Amino acid sequence: MDPTKRARVEAWLQYAGELGFTPIYRDRFSQSSESAPAPLPEISHAATTAVTLPAAAPSQAYAMAAGGAPRRAPAPSAVPAHKQSIAAPTAPLIPASPGMSLFDAAERIEGDTLPRIREDIGDCTRCKLHKARTNIVFGVGNPKAELVFVGEGPGHDEDIQGEPFVGRAGKLLTQMIEAMSLRREDVYICNVVKCRPPENRLPERDEIATCSPYLLRQLDAIRPKVVCCLGACAAQTLLQTTQGISRFRGEWMDFRGTKLIATYHPAYLLRNPPAKSEVWKDLQKVMAVLGLQPKRK
Ligand code: URA
Repeated sequence: MDPTKRARVEAWLQYAGELGFTPIYRDRFSQSSESAPAPLPEISHAATTAVTLPAAAPSQAYAMAAGGAPRRAPAPSAVPAHKQSIAAPTAPLIPASPGMSLFDAAERIEGDTLPRIREDIGDCTRCKLHKARTNIVFGVGNPKAELVFVGEGPGHDEDIQGEPFVGRAGKLLTQMIEAMSLRREDVYICNVVKCRPPENRLPERDEIATCSPYLLRQLDAIRPKVVCCLGACAAQTLLQTTQGISRFRGEWMDFRGTKLIATYHPAYLLRNPPAKSEVWKDLQKVMAVLGLQPKRK
């Protein structure tokens, strides 16, 4: 292995060890070697440019800004510090080492498939979320999708049905997908964590650290053209940043060689319908990359 790659892998393993999910990769290394939301408004396509975010240092990689999470985060001031699962950033982020990313350093598993990943998850008890879940919500859709949507974690309806985005926010996501002239079954939909956080709280750092390697494997197995992060949790997890989503929403970024864009979570849109126009602009950027024309009315 060349020295740069070795240094990356070592840094990854060290950090993964701190987070407690080294064994997942070690195993692999050893083997391989209600109310219908209003339609989205149509807004003309805006130019797209790729940006690079400063990465979180490994020790901060999964620390996320409470204020940046659009779905369920209470106002930061309303939550006592000891109850905040996610730390607000205190200083501008400095890359751990320029260009280095925890996920960049993770090896791809040759020939990995969605059924195999699901099998590896098994009847998971790796984190505390398993205690209250009804179903593991793995993901749904086209295993060869060009577009993958990544949400935060299952809610009540998803937990019961075992499928992501089937509740109110899910219905809005389906409308968004259809407005792009796609069907739900054309895309792939999954979440950062596969089990419902109790009371729909934000996933905690250790839960994200335990579950996100499976998300990474899902993305590697599908190899989409575009990953669209729905909300701060997905974006901050994949980009390993603590920056608030509004800082980079709608900008093209690179995720392990794949185009990634973050937009607001549909649950946020249910609370803030005017933000739909921003999301529609973001989706139009995705459509331009995928060569899609807006659905005719
Ligand atoms: N919100 C999410 O982030 N994911 C779901 O599956 C449902 C709601």
